[in-house]
Amino acid sequence: MTIAFTTADTTSLAQTEGTVVVLVGGDGALSGAGADADAAMDGALQRAVSSSRFKAKHGEAMEFPFPAGMKADRLILAATGKTKLDPTTARQLGGKIAAKIGKLEAPGVTVHADGLDAAHVAELAAGMKLRRYAFSRYKTGNDADTLGKGGITIATADVDAVKAAFTDTDALAEGTFFTRDLVSEPANVLFPSSFAERLEALKEHGVEVTVMGEKELEEIGMGSLLCVGLGSAQESKVVVMKWMGADDASEAPFCAVGKGVTFDTGGISIKPAGGMEEMTMDMGGAGVVSGLMKTVALRKAKANVIGVVGLVENMPDGLATRPGDIVTSLSGKTIEVINTDAEGRLVLADILFYAQREFKPAATINLATLTGAVIIALGNTNAGLFSNDDTLAGQIADAAKAESEGIWRLPLGKEYDDLIKSSLADVKNTGGRAAGSITAAQFLQRFVDDSPWAHIDIAGVTLSKESKPLHGKGASGWGVATLNRFVKDNFEK
Ligand code: BES
Ligand code: MN
Ligand code: ZN
Repeated sequence: MTIAFTTADTTSLAQTEGTVVVLVGGDGALSGAGADADAAMDGALQRAVSSSRFKAKHGEAMEFPFPAGMKADRLILAATGKTKLDPTTARQLGGKIAAKIGKLEAPGVTVHADGLDAAHVAELAAGMKLRRYAFSRYKTGNDADTLGKGGITIATADVDAVKAAFTDTDALAEGTFFTRDLVSEPANVLFPSSFAERLEALKEHGVEVTVMGEKELEEIGMGSLLCVGLGSAQESKVVVMKWMGADDASEAPFCAVGKGVTFDTGGISIKPAGGMEEMTMDMGGAGVVSGLMKTVALRKAKANVIGVVGLVENMPDGLATRPGDIVTSLSGKTIEVINTDAEGRLVLADILFYAQREFKPAATINLATLTGAVIIALGNTNAGLFSNDDTLAGQIADAAKAESEGIWRLPLGKEYDDLIKSSLADVKNTGGRAAGSITAAQFLQRFVDDSPWAHIDIAGVTLSKESKPLHGKGASGWGVATLNRFVKDNFEK
């Protein structure tokens, strides 16, 4: 979907066909275009604004079908809210307007964004785009285009400045779509090698992409990651994506590391059938890392960012890893596999160790749909954050707050680490029912060094059961915006 920008021209407002959107402030003041529409509509908008039905809250929108005095099929009056817009609320406003528009018939919608500065218009446009995403490639026939056929045009005073600002906000939308597409794809379409192929396509945006297959991973010694895929007919892959955008190519990079389990049955420790189809999203961490790489490449971020994803499928089979098996990780540490369903941490153990050994990052953040326990602890509103570094944890929390993505820090500590002691090996991969998300994080910490590291458990936020301003039901793309801002605020000069 593309969004067009045009110079604000309210002389033709009454002649515009399709859907017309005009803005009103929290104080009830109509925008210039709003006042023009109001004049054409013989004062109907002003009456609406003055009535008790319209509170002019942020994103509140009222629809006027087939308004008298106008060629439009409908006019939507949307409120910017009581508090002054900032980039985040401007983006959310776009999302709320997009939701109100619903299915868009030709010839489309014209949004009059007069009165907003260029940066906010660019955010509003991205917000509309983010909210209008739908994963509809498997809906054939009349449902094929669930969004409708019309286009979106935004009328603004300074088209050039808005277009320039939109390069950045659109990069975030496109990167987020990449994540959502990957998360939404079923496991018969998205498996480790097809996932890797989609990542190779990032080369066209200037990302250096290398794919390692099982032979190479065996030679390197990733026995922990590889044990997860032994029951699968699909070859496991590790993909490294490099965006070296800093002026100084030798500057220590930021490393984003993702769990990419394209399907998780649990393996021999098989999951119950109910809801197992949702485990196509168990590559959510790798999905966010992929979306971040696309975002930073599209906006040509002046930062060195390296993404590492471990792509495997966890299936039961005669060759699959058994409970009780002991594997040797890349770090040399041995792991007793108590439960083959705790596979994500086995994947991350090797790629975290690999990322820190190979790239000596200034900071490492891994993302994973790691535990059901984090949903018990935090529900679907906050991801779980774990870190060995208070500064890094603060930077991540600040970025998430600014992007309106929920995150909450949970503790690490020796008492929790004691729960994953193994009598036979160096460590075991589960710590029992108590503090399940924390013991998973403790397990990961066994494979990282002392440099700043954070783990984000996104099991509860990767799929959304309900619509939010910036996404509908399904894959949310949670984390792309937070990590993109984290890079912007901490790695770009
Ligand atoms: N992928 C799951 C975690 C998960 C659960 C993600 C629900 C999204 C929604 C992970 O591989 C898993 O199975 N974890 C187990 C760990 C347990 C065996 C210690 C879990 O959470 O039950
Ligand atoms: Mn599992
Ligand atoms: Zn899993």
